Amino acid sequence: MVSDDSLLILGIETSCDETAVGIVENGARSLSSVVASQVDLHARFGGVVPEVASRAHVSLINAVIAEALVEGGVDFCDLDAVAACSGPGLSGSLIVGSAAAKAIALATGLPYVGVNHLEGHIYAAFLDDPSLEPPIAALLVSGGHTLVVAMEAHGSYRVLGQTVDDAAGEAFDKVARFLGLGYPGGPAIDQLAARGDPEAIPFPRPMLKEGYDFSFSGLKTSVINYVSRNPDVEIADVAASFQDAVVDVAITKLLRGALEVGAPTVVIGGGVAANSRLRTRLLDEAESVGIEAFLPSRELCTDNGAMIAAAASWRLRADGPTPLDAGVSSSWSLASL
Ligand code: KG4
Ligand code: ZN
Repeated sequence: MVSDDSLLILGIETSCDETAVGIVENGARSLSSVVASQVDLHARFGGVVPEVASRAHVSLINAVIAEALVEGGVDFCDLDAVAACSGPGLSGSLIVGSAAAKAIALATGLPYVGVNHLEGHIYAAFLDDPSLEPPIAALLVSGGHTLVVAMEAHGSYRVLGQTVDDAAGEAFDKVARFLGLGYPGGPAIDQLAARGDPEAIPFPRPMLKEGYDFSFSGLKTSVINYVSRNPDVEIADVAASFQDAVVDVAITKLLRGALEVGAPTVVIGGGVAANSRLRTRLLDEAESVGIEAFLPSRELCTDNGAMIAAAASWRLRADGPTPLDAGVSSSWSLASL
């Protein structure tokens, strides 16, 4: 039974290439978080292959659920609800996680909750600091998304801006591929950039002065053109200069958004939020304008099941269970919540 004072939720995340399950108490305390990464499967293709991803989710999901239950010391009968990410993401992948959650709900009688992936990334921050309170400005930067969001109250969002072309993570991955650094590119560029000079090459800061939207496609092309014209350039300097251009734009828009909506706190989420340079610069620059920056741990920034369980806790209390015949949506917008 769902009680008001304690809510134990199992959350499943399969929107892209991680098969992940977490168990969370009251939207705030993570009892377990198991992530089976498919990175090695997709690396030889240089990116996520949707059909390969959904097949891998099918073969991994039961084992990952079982491991999360063991890690959390929890049985199905201890749970109050079961949740799954039902969009946005790859349809074939989303279906695997949501079908697994619905099957558990049907077999146990537990309520099912369909969770928006981006809302999950925001609620990851609450797992590291349950005292966080809206209004909050959030920067969500991943392989598929880049947006600045004002969270005005729990479960209520205003999308201030988003990318008009490539996502930030996609730009990291494409630049890394061009530089021969492999897949996924974000962590490789992050590591290499630590040895480079971020001021070595003045790459453009796309749309820096204009509102809240982002554009990374031109920046990626600038990197490719620069390296093609200067083949002897120090590659660590390219990585550091490219990374700083992305970080500059991301931080400027996030802090601008926070100041405009009067949010005293900013949070970040999504895989690119694990970036070292973004994290150190955001802490400094937020402080200099009187805003508190809250950075969830790197494990909570990348895709995981605990963030889905955390968001489900708020959704279940606010909206009740999701009907079992509800589908998945590859393009489910945060603004529609
Ligand atoms: O949120 P996520 O795990 O999955 C999606 O929903 O896309 O994000 C994955 C993305 C990839 O593009 C990856 O290259 C990027 O996050 N990423 C990073 C770092 N770690 C992961 N980008 C920059 N620096 C990192 N340290
Ligand atoms: Zn994500």
